[in-house]
Amino acid sequence: MRNSIFPALYILAAAGFILAIKWMNSPVTARRGVIAGEIGMLLAVVGTLLRHEVVTYQWILIAFFIGSALGVPLAYLMPMTAVPQRTAFSHACGALASALIGTAEYYRHTPHGFVMTALVLETLLGFLTFTASLMAFGKLQEILPTRPITYRGQNFVNLGVFALAVAIGIALILSPERTWLFPIFSVLSLIFGVMLIVPIGGADMPTVIALLNSYAGLSASAMGFVLDNKLLIVAGALDGSSGFILSVIMCRAMNRSFSNVLFGAFGTLQVSAQKAAERPVRSASPEEAAEILDSARSVVIIPGYGMAVAQAQHKLREMFDVLTRRGVDVRFAIHPVAGRMPGHMNVLLAEANVPYDRLAEMDDINPEFPRADVALVIGANDVVNPAAKTDKGSPIAGMPILNAYEARTVMVIKRSMSPGFAGIDNDLYHMDKTLMLFGDAKVFVGSIVKELNAAVAAR
Ligand code: TAP
Repeated sequence: MRNSIFPALYILAAAGFILAIKWMNSPVTARRGVIAGEIGMLLAVVGTLLRHEVVTYQWILIAFFIGSALGVPLAYLMPMTAVPQRTAFSHACGALASALIGTAEYYRHTPHGFVMTALVLETLLGFLTFTASLMAFGKLQEILPTRPITYRGQNFVNLGVFALAVAIGIALILSPERTWLFPIFSVLSLIFGVMLIVPIGGADMPTVIALLNSYAGLSASAMGFVLDNKLLIVAGALDGSSGFILSVIMCRAMNRSFSNVLFGAFGTLQVSAQKAAERPVRSASPEEAAEILDSARSVVIIPGYGMAVAQAQHKLREMFDVLTRRGVDVRFAIHPVAGRMPGHMNVLLAEANVPYDRLAEMDDINPEFPRADVALVIGANDVVNPAAKTDKGSPIAGMPILNAYEARTVMVIKRSMSPGFAGIDNDLYHMDKTLMLFGDAKVFVGSIVKELNAAVAAR
């Protein structure tokens, strides 16, 4: 009986994980997806806790309290804009757990053959993901310098350290009894994790985190082979492949290649931000902006990182409501890498209960811009920068953008003329049809709402 319960629990848990990923594909079913994932994890934990041969309850309780002491405050205290670094921190914990389990298994059983190969992969990926994720966390939290740190021959040195770790790993697979090699192998893997992140700028970290997610998943999957735990194999493979697919999507949406993200030291060139400040722009007040919006028939709102920083989504929803009541067609254009993590804008707008059918993906909304009376850019910069199309030398050259410049009037809410994430000037701000609305996104949108309400009341 007991023997049939575990596989059944594990199969149900695996089904929960797969359904979770499937349902999280759409905002409409995302909540269901989260619940399916939580139930899957509960079944997996219960299934494992029932196996007396693999558990020691007192250690698990200690680990449970330490983990909760770290995890609960993290979940409650870290703001949405800090989710990338929070994710990096949890990858670091998961990867360390995987690497330590590999180490313990090595010294307890010294496996051979296929299991030893899996163990070497598990520990290599586990240790390197641990230090790399901590570095990514440090850069995103700005505890460490965020700019890429490079030196001549860096790629050569990095690849050398990696090759040495792999060579020692192979030596361990061939003769696992050489226990003195294991600490050297572990330390090299830890060092490589640090070296991997040093040349990558804070700006590229979200993509790197998706990649590290993939490594941590592969490490967990390898651990499944070491521990002969099929659920770990499945869950790790799901994690590994979804992290990889996500990083591919992010690279594509930025028109970057993997090698460019990993070795391109993006963010070193701080181009002509000053020059931009000297070129003239037209600015407008909340009253003028409200007037233009009030007389428009169709408005496309383009949210970006600044909306997230300002937490302007609720005010934006109020503006959406007033304009919609006035018969204006309002849509939100979502760029795949607007903000700092995939789905960043979708989550914030969903939090403010903006109806999903008013959100449009880039390919669907781009043909609509020439017909839009107003493109209202809120704290977005790179994702509407025409330089991506016109300037081959630009760091964002080739990145698909939202064609806000095609709308009849463009209004841009941001605090200053400072550049966005890519550190480059934006010609959109200098066009004749563009009005700069200088201010914090939440405050400015709030003022527009007030003006719109006053106009409605006066009628
Ligand atoms: P950005 O290009 O980073 O521009 C954000 C703008 O928001 C800034 O120019 C800033 O200007 C403004 N801002 C900041 N705080 C504000 C506030 N409180 N109120 C009003 N405005 C504020 O953002 P984006 O257009 O969303 O582009 C995202 C960038 O991140 C892209 O380059 C993308 O490749 C990159 N990236 C994204 C991801 C994912 S997955 N989303 C991952 C890696 C990299 P001021 O300082 O003048 O206010």
